Amino acid sequence: MLFKQQALLRQKLLVLGSLAIGSLLYLVARVGSLDRLQPLCPIDGRFGPHGQEEIPLRALQFKRGLLHEFRKGNATKEQIRLHNLVQQLPKAIIIGVRKGGTRALLEMLNLHPAVVKASQEIHFFDNDENYAKGIEWYRKKMPFSYPHQITIEKSPAYFITEEVPERIYKMNSSIKLLIIVREPTTRAISDYTQVLEGKERKNKTYYKFEKLAIDPNTCEVNTKYKAVRTSIYTKHLERWLKYFPIEQFHIVDGDRLITEPLPELQLVEKFLNLPPRISQYNLYFNATRGFYCLRFNIVFNKCLAGSKGRIHPEVDTSVITKLRKFFHPFNQKFYQITGRTLNWP
Ligand code: A3P
Repeated sequence: MLFKQQALLRQKLLVLGSLAIGSLLYLVARVGSLDRLQPLCPIDGRFGPHGQEEIPLRALQFKRGLLHEFRKGNATKEQIRLHNLVQQLPKAIIIGVRKGGTRALLEMLNLHPAVVKASQEIHFFDNDENYAKGIEWYRKKMPFSYPHQITIEKSPAYFITEEVPERIYKMNSSIKLLIIVREPTTRAISDYTQVLEGKERKNKTYYKFEKLAIDPNTCEVNTKYKAVRTSIYTKHLERWLKYFPIEQFHIVDGDRLITEPLPELQLVEKFLNLPPRISQYNLYFNATRGFYCLRFNIVFNKCLAGSKGRIHPEVDTSVITKLRKFFHPFNQKFYQITGRTLNWP
């Protein structure tokens, strides 16, 4: 009997102990993440009309919490009013380059407490139908944010679409523009791989990369092939420079963002005049994925979708050499214009 009572007591203590440890861990997780997400501008810790809404601003900035709900469009009119939430036009846009690492860059910048990302590619400036809907339509596509935060969107098609620089200029001539680039041949192969995957999904056959990238009649690089043209970065940039001075652009090294993301992100923080808030803690290497993943706090982390980081098909080395030789003079010009030299072959 005594033994039975002792066993019962031990069991109760075990349950209580586990509950206490669980709560403690939860509190540490929450406080840890909230501390990291300190407000960036001097707004009072408590707000709301007549102080009845006693929610510390820090708590509201817990990105995976309340604000996340707001972003999903669940905010009631009352919540939006109480928390001063707004849908702001972007202060910075990742304009390209397709397959440069645009998604990784956007997601990583979103780790910053002062940055709020537009999750979807909006394609406002490159799509005539969307553009015709007007700037208010575009603004309404933006996530809810606090007035001191900045909104960033990414639509990689902007970089290569003729009409876009003028249209963005008309919206905001002092907007900051981010371009993430990768070694041009690798980028072209990545571009091809994405299209190839789409064809395979539809059970369609597709040409080999070599056949598309090299003109079979001249045996020269086929500049009509879109994946090749997109990688001639300097040609596209020159169109943008008719509207914006080079100081309004920041070049992100997409190859380095893969292997060493933090220093690249720190350069972007500086360019956007944001205090440095993204740290090594927020980025961890996931050996299974073979890429860095994102850590918001000890509870929430995420890797990019499987469509990012595809295995590229093997490409004939002579074709790679030909392409690299072709891109070389354009790359030199790109370094010269941007003032950023990248170690491309
Ligand atoms: P690959 O699929 O060729 O490897 P985008 O988002 O502009 O389409 O770019 C996709 C590329 O982002 C991927 O190209 C991948 O290499 C790169 N990338 C950079 N950082 C990444 C990360 N942390 N996780 C997954 N992919 C990343």
